[in-house]
Amino acid sequence: MNVLVAGGAGYIGSHFVRLLVDQDIPVAVVDDLSSGHRRSIPDTVPFARADIGDSETMRRVLAEHEPFAVVDFAGLIQVGESVRRPDLYFRVNVAHSLRLLDVIVQAGVRAFVYSSTAAVYGDPIRTPIDEDHPTKPINPYGASKLAIEHAAFAYANAFNLRVACLRYFNAAGAHPSGELDERHDPETHLIPLAIDAALGQGPALTVYGQDWDTPDGTCVRDFIHVMDLAEAHLHALHALHEDGRSLCLNLGTGTGCSVQEVLAAVERVTGNKVPFAVGPRRAGDPPQLVASVARARHQLGWSARRSDIDTIVKDAVRARRARFDAPDGVPGSSRFPPPRGS
Ligand SMILES: NC(=O)c1ccc[n+]([C@@H]2O[C@H](COP(=O)([O-])OP(=O)(O)OC[C@H]3O[C@@H](n4cnc5c(N)ncnc54)[C@H](O)[C@@H]3O)[C@@H](O)[C@H]2O)c1
Repeated sequence: MNVLVAGGAGYIGSHFVRLLVDQDIPVAVVDDLSSGHRRSIPDTVPFARADIGDSETMRRVLAEHEPFAVVDFAGLIQVGESVRRPDLYFRVNVAHSLRLLDVIVQAGVRAFVYSSTAAVYGDPIRTPIDEDHPTKPINPYGASKLAIEHAAFAYANAFNLRVACLRYFNAAGAHPSGELDERHDPETHLIPLAIDAALGQGPALTVYGQDWDTPDGTCVRDFIHVMDLAEAHLHALHALHEDGRSLCLNLGTGTGCSVQEVLAAVERVTGNKVPFAVGPRRAGDPPQLVASVARARHQLGWSARRSDIDTIVKDAVRARRARFDAPDGVPGSSRFPPPRGS
């Protein structure tokens, strides 16, 4: 099984690529490096710097590698930015992804695995959220991801394409080796911000509301270890390889963890206090977002193995410390020398 990973230089994509390399599964990566890092991909993995909307280059890359599947992590991911710049989000996440789908079908690729999100559900009307929960995104980011889900399933119906849309809840943690890390710019995710604050590498954290209708008054989220996500993608690929049925699955743990519980875990692991201030609630933040994971367990035989909050935080702290300690700020840079042309 030969795989092309789009967006493989990003946070989740690079962890998935590492899993494929470790399993000796042939993999190539396409990424425009708009937010990804070339050095997150081992030098042995064929790499093309390209936008997924560049059909000519994508055609060439697909002809060269003839993958069984394209796994698509490429896209823009910031909810707040999507509200300010919907044009950007619909262009990159919808128009460019559609071009990718067209080229995939024309090239005869058999399977497409798409990084979707819990943001497709909008404000939950029940929890845990199962896949049949209504999809009513409340921001352009969620709407852009849902649009590609619809397109992908329609393409699966009409063309010879097997599709898995995987709706991640809150991706977190890092590769246990400490060699890969979560490196968004700007970083908007709770765990890296809390760790940086605790390690004195970032400003004090803002906790958005302590008066929610939750057990401790802070928001509850379903954090899933990035390596559990990577393994779920591999299960999805095997399922698509063996069976033509399309998949639409939540990827989470089924268990919520509050912001306050995350801060307590960061304090346990680092031995430092997390400096924080309580700010107002953010518009559009649901109090609880927790996945129902029964379908993924049933259809993939997969469930999260590393996603208890202490393991997530331990792995994230190890990778962030490695980054801060590395001479050029890149974890694992001593093991993977800079690739040519980076
Ligand atoms: N991080 C999360 O918690 C989370 C949750 C739900 C869904 N997702 C989805 O998972 C995917 C990956 O998220 P991430 O956190 O790894 O983000 P990321 O920004 O770290 O990775 C995205 C990668 O895609 C590349 N890219 C962006 N636009 C591109 C384009 N037009 N052509 C080629 N490459 C392009 C970037 O350079 C980057 O390497 C995204 O599609 C996101 O919507 C992430």
